[in-house]
Amino acid sequence: MAGNLKWPPGFSLLLIAGMVGIASAGNIAVYWGQNGGEGTLADACNSGNYAYVILSFLTTFGNGQTPVLNLAGHCDPGSGGCTGLTSDIQGCQSQGIKVLLSLGGAVGNYGLSSTDDANSVASYLWDNYLGGSSSSRPLGAAVLDGIDFDIENGNSAHYDDLANALSGFSAQGQKVYLTAAPQCPYPDASLGPALQTGLFDNVWVQFYNNPGCEYANGDDTNLVSAWGTWTSSVNAGNFYLGLPASTDAAGSGYIQPSDLTGTVLPAIKGVGNYGGIMLWSRFYDVQNNYSGQVVGSV
Ligand SMILES: *[C@@H]1O[C@H](CO)[C@@H](O)[C@H](O)[C@H]1NC(C)=O
Repeated sequence: MAGNLKWPPGFSLLLIAGMVGIASAGNIAVYWGQNGGEGTLADACNSGNYAYVILSFLTTFGNGQTPVLNLAGHCDPGSGGCTGLTSDIQGCQSQGIKVLLSLGGAVGNYGLSSTDDANSVASYLWDNYLGGSSSSRPLGAAVLDGIDFDIENGNSAHYDDLANALSGFSAQGQKVYLTAAPQCPYPDASLGPALQTGLFDNVWVQFYNNPGCEYANGDDTNLVSAWGTWTSSVNAGNFYLGLPASTDAAGSGYIQPSDLTGTVLPAIKGVGNYGGIMLWSRFYDVQNNYSGQVVGSV
């Protein structure tokens, strides 16, 4: 199931799960968009392995710039070529999969110069990707489920304002999901203040390319310690263990599927705000079938 367990329904589900001896179920979130060779969005959703697909990335925004979507080889947003994704997005959503737009990424020209700037980015996102309206929606009529913050440039200014403004649009109808992808060292250099708002539904912490807090050489001590800090320090809906989907997906932090299911998941699942795992990215997941190997244990 795609939905997150919420108390009290989740509480009773957990009781039932306990009575019949099945483990509490988590979800898998995956980033899609940065490699034209990863297959279509429809194929990703039809795999049945994901509850969240995160379109990556809106690489340019803020400082008064016209925001720019970058979906690598998938389509050219400048010529309206990404509006063809509308039916794929709606198809994913009809399966209960939430489709989000990720802001930022490791490379990009983004930053917020003021509260007004944050508010205008929020309005742009509402009109062009969410429930508002615009004559030039890059993904056409599809209404995304929310916005992911993958801010990695170390400039944290005004993302709390952006979260507040986006959250405010939920009052106009459909809920705007807010998610974030901080690095595992706590607190995150780029997202610390934004996460203090308490407005985020899911936080997928990147446990890769961060040797001080990730899994290494069969040792999960640092990972489990950082997981405990994150899940007890930040007020958010659910926490996901963010992982590379193959050895090629990151410089470090890969966990063999058998180690994940046998050792790491049992060590982190105990917290009430466990949500599942996040994978970077669909491309590497297709190559390694990581989600297929672990989905039954997440
Ligand atoms: C992925 O792995 C699972 C579990 O071993 C298997 O059932 C599934 O067929 C695999 N999928 C692909 C595409 O290889």
